[in-house]
Amino acid sequence: MTSFHYVVAAALCSAILFGGGRGINAQLTPTFYNKTCPNLHTIIRSVVEDALQTDPRIGASIIRLHFHDCFVNGCDGSLLLDNSATILSEKEAPPNNNSARGFDVIDNIKTAVEKSCPRLAGGPEWPVPLGRRDSLTANRTLASINLPGPGSTLDQLKFRFSVVGLNTDDLVALSGAHTFGRAQCRTFRNRLYNFNNTGNPDPTLDTALRTELRKICPETGTGTNLTNLDQTTPDDFDNKYYSNLQVKKGLLQSDQELFSTPGADTQVIVNKFTSSQDAFFDSFVKSMIRMGNISPLTGKAGEIRLNCRRVNAQVNDDLLQFKREDDLVSSI
Ligand code: HEM
Ligand SMILES: *[C@@H]1O[C@H](CO)[C@@H](O)[C@H](O)[C@H]1NC(C)=O
Ligand SMILES: *[C@@H]1O[C@H](CO)[C@@H](O)[C@H](O)[C@H]1NC(C)=O
Ligand SMILES: *[C@@H]1O[C@H](CO)[C@@H](O)[C@H](O)[C@H]1NC(C)=O
Ligand SMILES: *[C@@H]1O[C@H](CO)[C@@H](O)[C@H](O)[C@H]1NC(C)=O
Ligand SMILES: *[C@@H]1O[C@H](CO)[C@@H](O)[C@H](O)[C@H]1NC(C)=O
Repeated sequence: MTSFHYVVAAALCSAILFGGGRGINAQLTPTFYNKTCPNLHTIIRSVVEDALQTDPRIGASIIRLHFHDCFVNGCDGSLLLDNSATILSEKEAPPNNNSARGFDVIDNIKTAVEKSCPRLAGGPEWPVPLGRRDSLTANRTLASINLPGPGSTLDQLKFRFSVVGLNTDDLVALSGAHTFGRAQCRTFRNRLYNFNNTGNPDPTLDTALRTELRKICPETGTGTNLTNLDQTTPDDFDNKYYSNLQVKKGLLQSDQELFSTPGADTQVIVNKFTSSQDAFFDSFVKSMIRMGNISPLTGKAGEIRLNCRRVNAQVNDDLLQFKREDDLVSSI
């Protein structure tokens, strides 16, 4: 199975559950699943629905995993690999460590799909979705460099997107994913107290919101308290993210930059998405597809992983190891 294809589907199913547009799922559903795994969407949906029972944030977390995978050597599932003798995981790179979450739900999706559609598991006859396969490697260094940070300026954001072939429209549309999910205090704290080493708070942050945020985000300490990225409709996939920006209520500097950077060409896009949720959904779908197509592994490159967390060679080694221990036990 090419892990991340399912992640996209899963993320969008949950976006719908969160109240997002029905159209999103329809447009991103590749028809090639019809033959190979007709129940695929039902399976994914049911795993995600289960997870949602106890974790209203899971859809947001999974969509973010997709972003963090795609910006590092393309959408090849490299983010899902655990540390091993040969892999230095991307999970522990600064943008991900103690931040990226939802890996257990990916495992559950993978297990459920394998159970119902075992023929998806690695046969060479599998028609690879959009040519995408899973990586054999991870790159922690690249994961530390390629992902934009919450303190990025507009120029830095544009640059990071351009490196992976995405443009300004993609930047503004995809940032709209911050319409749901949470962020830790440490990702916006400097805006509350000492912005950009000015000794003052960020003037582009609403002062009433600043007062609220200071309560859960004191100037010192671990900064792990969570708050909503979207102050208006925290769990809904809608266009409120953009109207928040118009009233200085973006949570991260990287959010507010899209509207508050003087003379920025992104302002007009923010305004467009504020006045039309349909326009936002249309653009979001297009940009998600563009992001999902960043340097996929095709042909014989990579593999179709049996377990999202390890490369197949590792899994085979484990099986052999297991068998040896088994033999040992039976010989005792
Ligand atoms: C434009 C540059 C971006 C920056 C600088 C950025 C930064 C961040 C940061 C700092 C967090 C909070 C992490 C934490 O506190 O643990 C976050 C959360 C999140 N990001 Fe982004 N992000 C960007 C773009 C995106 C994109 C393109 C997507 C998806 C299409 C996305 C989806 C999310 C979601 C859904 C969450 C909440 C996750 C959760 O609740 O688990 N972000 N982002
Ligand atoms: C896949 O199934 C959907 C819904 O049943 C149908 O509309 C579509 O035409 C099918 N596509 C293929 C390639 O069979
Ligand atoms: C990731 O976070 C864990 C827990 O805080 C820490 O023990 C570990 O050293 C971190 N990894 C890296 C590479 O910094
Ligand atoms: C990670 O990517 C960098 C930059 O492309 C490269 O120099 C390095 O060798 C890569 N590391 C691994 C482990 O592939
Ligand atoms: C932060 O400070 C630097 C150097 O003083 C300046 O070039 C930059 O524009 C500032 N960034 C913001 C967002 O104000
Ligand atoms: C988390 O927020 C509470 C207020 O809700 C505050 O008392 C506490 O100090 C905060 N913890 C951290 C680690 O910042």
